[in-house]
Amino acid sequence: MIPQQLLFYCRPGFEPDLAGEIATKAAALGWQGYPRPQVGHVGFVLTDERPANALHRALPLASLVFARQSLVALEPLELSREDRLSPIVEQVLESGWSFESLWQETPDTNDAKALAGLIKALQRPLESMLKKRGALRRKAGGRRLHLWWTEGDRVQLGMSFPGNRSEQPGGIRRLRFPHDAPSRSTLKLEEAWHEFVPRDQWDSRLAEGMQAADLGAAPGGWTWQLVRRGMQVYAIDNGPMDGGLMATDLVEHLREDGFVWAPPMRLDWLVCDIVDKPARVIDMVERWLVKRWCREAVFNLKLPMKQRWEAVADGLARLDRSLTAAGVEAEIACRHLYHDREEVTVHVRLFN
Ligand SMILES: C[S@@+](CC[C@H](N)C(=O)[O-])C[C@H]1O[C@@H](n2cnc3c(N)ncnc32)[C@H](O)[C@@H]1O
Repeated sequence: MIPQQLLFYCRPGFEPDLAGEIATKAAALGWQGYPRPQVGHVGFVLTDERPANALHRALPLASLVFARQSLVALEPLELSREDRLSPIVEQVLESGWSFESLWQETPDTNDAKALAGLIKALQRPLESMLKKRGALRRKAGGRRLHLWWTEGDRVQLGMSFPGNRSEQPGGIRRLRFPHDAPSRSTLKLEEAWHEFVPRDQWDSRLAEGMQAADLGAAPGGWTWQLVRRGMQVYAIDNGPMDGGLMATDLVEHLREDGFVWAPPMRLDWLVCDIVDKPARVIDMVERWLVKRWCREAVFNLKLPMKQRWEAVADGLARLDRSLTAAGVEAEIACRHLYHDREEVTVHVRLFN
C-alpha cells in the first residue's frame, strides 16, 4: 500500500494558514492534491500518482512556516473501544513499514490532552505487538511511527524520517523559563536559536564578546539571552530595562527609535521584537542587511490580520527580492515557533 497523504501538525487556530502554505508550495512543485485542515493539524491528500514520500522530501520541514511536524501518513482509522490495537497493528503490517520507535501524540488542545491516560496505557501493549510482528525493530533507518490521536476512537498513523522531522513530541520545543529573565518573551529568542543555529555551532555563532543590537528590547527578555551568551548589547527602547541586566555592564540602553537607529559599527547580531506592521519591520531589517550592519538577524513578524500565510509569504518574497537585487547573499528561514503566538520568527544569515 503506497501512502498517499502527508500529515502536518500546527498550533490550533493556524490550520487555514498551514493549509494555504502547503497547497501553494505543493502546487508550485507540480503536485496535485488538497489540504484537509482539522484542529491542530492539516492532512494533505494527494491526487497524484507519485508516492507521498517524494513530496515529503521536496517540502522539508525546515522550509515550512506553520508546520510543527511533517509525516507521511495513512488514512485515519475509526476504532472500536473494545479493541483499539488490532486495526492499528493491521494497518502497520499492510503498509509494509517498519520502525525503530513509536510515539503517540495529540493536537495541542485541552480536549486532546484528556487522552493522555489512554495513550499511556496503550504504549506497552502496542510496542510488544508490533515487535512480535517485526514492525518495530532495532535497525529501521531511524524511522519513527507516530500515532496521532484526535479522539479516543480516532487515530491516524504517520511515519517520520531522521533529518526531516521535529525531534520534539508534538513538534513542540518546551523550554524552562529562566527564573531571573525579565520577561517570558525570552523563550522566543532561545527557541529561535535552537531552531535556526545548529547546537554544535553555538560556540562560534553565539559567542562571548560578540556585539548585538536588540530593537524593542524592554524589559529585556531577549537582551538577557544575548547577555547569557556573553555578548555586548545595544538595547534600543524608550521603555525601562531590567535593573539586574543593566548591572552586568554588558548592556548599553539607548532611548531611540529602533526604526531609525544605526549601529556605530558592524555587529554580529540584530534581534527585533517590536510590535509593528510586518512590512515596516521588513523594510528596516532589509536596510540593516543591505548595509551589512549585522551578520545574522532574528526578528518577529506580528500577524494580527486574517490572511496570515499570505502576509508572511509576501513579506519573505519581498525581502528575498531586495537582497538579491542588492547582491546580498543570504539564507532566510521563517518558522511559527511554539513560543510564538500571533507572530512568526524570521532568521537571516548573510554569506558575504
Ligand atoms: C514585545 S515588547 C519586547 C519584549 C522584549 N523582547 C523582551 O523580551 O522583554 C516590544 C517593545 O518594543 C518597544 N517599541 C515599540 N516601538 C518601538 C520603536 N519604534 N523603537 C524601539 N522600541 C520600540 C516597546 O516599547 C516595547 O518595549
